[in-house]
Amino acid sequence: MQHLTILTGASRGMGLALAEQLCAPDAVLLCISRQTSDPLAVRAGAKGTALTQWQADLADPVPVAERLRSWLAGLDGAAFASATLINNAGVVDPIGPLDAADPQAMARLLRVDLEAPMQLCAAFLAATRSWVAPRKILNISSGLGRRAMAGSALYCAAKAGMDHFSRCVALDEARQAQPVRIVSLAPGVIDTDMQAELRAGDPAGFPDRDNFVRLKQTQALASPAQAAGKLLAFLAREDFGSTVIADVRDA
Ligand SMILES: NC(=O)c1ccc[n+]([C@@H]2O[C@H](COP(=O)([O-])OP(=O)(O)OC[C@H]3O[C@@H](n4cnc5c(N)ncnc54)[C@H](OP(=O)(O)O)[C@@H]3O)[C@@H](O)[C@H]2O)c1
Repeated sequence: MQHLTILTGASRGMGLALAEQLCAPDAVLLCISRQTSDPLAVRAGAKGTALTQWQADLADPVPVAERLRSWLAGLDGAAFASATLINNAGVVDPIGPLDAADPQAMARLLRVDLEAPMQLCAAFLAATRSWVAPRKILNISSGLGRRAMAGSALYCAAKAGMDHFSRCVALDEARQAQPVRIVSLAPGVIDTDMQAELRAGDPAGFPDRDNFVRLKQTQALASPAQAAGKLLAFLAREDFGSTVIADVRDA
């Protein structure tokens, strides 16, 4: 039996580390981001993993969700020991006050960080409804979904939305015969391109910038591999889903 994982944002950062650690002979991995990763393809080949990489822009999530629905419908659910969706792709730009934000960039952030996870959740839930294998959804949230920060209204709101829709999905799933378990998990602070973007923010509109500079200087950032290891350990917990809103730092 194989373990199916659908993972967004696997081309770099924490998503790439997650994908690399998921590679195993019994793994079937579908990765979705705008770029594909050659090193990931090499690792999957070496580990005997069935890897598929879709180049897709999650700022236009409806066609991607429709494609996922059809792709899942073409699989034999009985062949899988588990099925998991990890909504990891995210963007933090635009950084700064709302009235200074470019409207197109605003729309892009909300689509990638909030609409796409919802669309992919819907497709995953519907297409795997009859599967008997245990199914899980891991939404990668942020401490900023729970704590407001100046200069990041869009990102904070999108992650708060992710937390809250996860709560609602958990309530809907509790009424199903075979509920999907869902968690919206804050992953800690990780040394990725996203942190570099925060450090490059203009302090005039982003007063917390120096805190992000300090996190890097004091080596308080986890490596992508460390963060991915913790997320996958969390995903494997027996009680996964018993608490919908979680922070890996409390685990
Ligand atoms: N880094 C942190 O300290 C931190 C803290 C809290 C939460 N998080 C969350 O953790 C997750 C991963 O963050 P990260 O730090 O690894 O970010 P990252 O290094 O900036 O990587 C972002 C990933 O998302 C993908 N992505 C971005 N825009 C996309 C689009 N339009 N369509 C498809 N894929 C897209 C990127 O792939 P392409 O560019 O190839 O499309 C990339 O693989 C995010 O949800 C983030 O909000 C991070």
